Amino acid sequence: WENKFLPPPLRLDDPVRALKVEACLSGLALRGSALRRVAGVFTREMTRGLRQQPSSLQMENTYVPELPDGTEEGVFLALDLGGTNFRVLLVELRAGRLVREDVKQYHISDELRLGPGEDLFSFLADCVQDFVRCEGMEDQEMSLGFTFSFPMKQHSISSGELITWTKSFKCGGMAGVDVAALLQRCLRARRLRVTVRVLLNDTTGTLVAGAQLDRRVGIGVILGTGSNGCYMERASAVSRWEAAPARRGRSPDVCVDVEWGAFGDNGCLDFIRTDLDREVDARSLLVGSFTFEKYIGGKYLGDLLRAALARLAGAGLLPRAPPPGSLTSAHLSLFEEENENGETTRTLDALRAACGGRWGEQDALVAQHAARLASNRAAQLVSVCVSVLIERMARPHVAVAVDGSVFKRHPRIGRLMDTYIALLQPLPFSLMGAEDGSGKGSALTAAIAARIAAQDN
Ligand code: GLC
Repeated sequence: WENKFLPPPLRLDDPVRALKVEACLSGLALRGSALRRVAGVFTREMTRGLRQQPSSLQMENTYVPELPDGTEEGVFLALDLGGTNFRVLLVELRAGRLVREDVKQYHISDELRLGPGEDLFSFLADCVQDFVRCEGMEDQEMSLGFTFSFPMKQHSISSGELITWTKSFKCGGMAGVDVAALLQRCLRARRLRVTVRVLLNDTTGTLVAGAQLDRRVGIGVILGTGSNGCYMERASAVSRWEAAPARRGRSPDVCVDVEWGAFGDNGCLDFIRTDLDREVDARSLLVGSFTFEKYIGGKYLGDLLRAALARLAGAGLLPRAPPPGSLTSAHLSLFEEENENGETTRTLDALRAACGGRWGEQDALVAQHAARLASNRAAQLVSVCVSVLIERMARPHVAVAVDGSVFKRHPRIGRLMDTYIALLQPLPFSLMGAEDGSGKGSALTAAIAARIAAQDN
C-alpha cells in the first residue's frame, strides 16, 4: 500500500544518473504514510475551523443551504472573477435546465489586478454595462450572481468581505470591504437595474452545477489556477451563523467553503515542504500565503517544475537551468502527455525554446520524470482533502464535481486522483467534470437564494 503512491522509477541508459536524479527530487515523492499524516492534520484543522478555533482552514459558511431541485427558473446575469479572464454571462434557466447562455470575456490588465480595489470594481461594472448594452437589456431589471473566487468572510448568501487576495490579484484598499456591496454601488452609479443576489465562490458554483449531472453530488473541487473545495456539512456543525439564524434549525445542511489553498499556512504541514516549494513561494506574488495551493494550482506547477529542473542542472544532471517564469503548467501537461506515449520530440523542442543549449533524449526523460513527480504530488494532496471530505460525509456514494484548467487539460491528473482517493479511503465515490460553475452554478444559486427569500417572507 505504502509504495502504491510512488511513480514508476526513472529508467535511463546510465542507471547511476537515474538514481542521482531520483535522490535529488526525493522530497517530492510522498508515500502513503506521509499522506495519512497529511489527512490527520487536515481533519484536525477542519474541526478547529468549523468551531472557530485557530486553524489554517477557514471552513467558511456560504449560507447555501441546499442544491438545485429542478424548479429553478429565470434569466440571470453572472460574473466570474478569479481566474485568468473576467467573464460576464447571461444565463436562462427553465425547470432547472440551462436553455441559453451568452458569455463575454474581458481582459483584466496587471494595472487593475494590482492597483486600487475601487478601480477594479469600477471596471467590472463598466463590463456589465457594456454587456447589457450588447444584449439590448439595459432597461430590464436583472438579478446577478457574483462568483468571486477568493477567500471571503460571508455575512449572508449575498454579502461578504474579502479576507486576502490570492493567485494573481493584489488590489489595495479592500480590507473590510463588502465586495457585493461595492459591486452594487458601482452598478448603481451607472444606473444599471441590476441587483447582486448572491455572492459565491467558484467551488460552490461547481458543486451546485454538479447537482444537475448527479444528484448524489456532495463535494465541489477546483483544480485550476488555484485549488480549493467545498462540501455539504451538517448545519449544526457550523459555529458561525450571522444571517438567518432561523434557517439553522430548518435546513439540515449548508455548503462550507474549506479554502484549502491556505492549508498549512500556520506551519502544521511543514513536514512535506521542500526547498523547491520555498523557492516557488519566494518568487510568488503573495509570499508566505496559500502555501498548499502552491503545491497544486496551475499558476504554480510550472514554477515548481522549473525549480526542479534548475536544481537538477545545478547538480550537473541536466545541461541548463530554465530561467524563472519560462515554464508553465502547459509544459507540465505536455511533458506528461509525451511521457505517457513514450515520446520526447515536443518535450525537447520546449526545453530548447525555454533554456537554449543542447538537449538530448535522456535529458528529456529526466525533465518528464520531474513533471511526473510534481503532478503526482499535486494529485495526491488534492486526493487527501477529497478523501477526508468523503469519509466525513459518510454517505452510500458521494459524487465529486470538479472543474478548473488543470483538471481539464492535464492528461492524467483525473486518473491519478481516482486511484489515490480509492487508496486513501474505503467509501464509493465518483469524480465528474462539472463545467461552468461560475455561469450555470451561479445562476442556479441565485435561483435558490430567491426561493429561500420567498419561503422566509
Ligand atoms: C483560491 C481562492 C479560492 C478559490 C480557489 C480556486 O484558492 O482563495 O477561493 O476557490 O483559488 O479558484
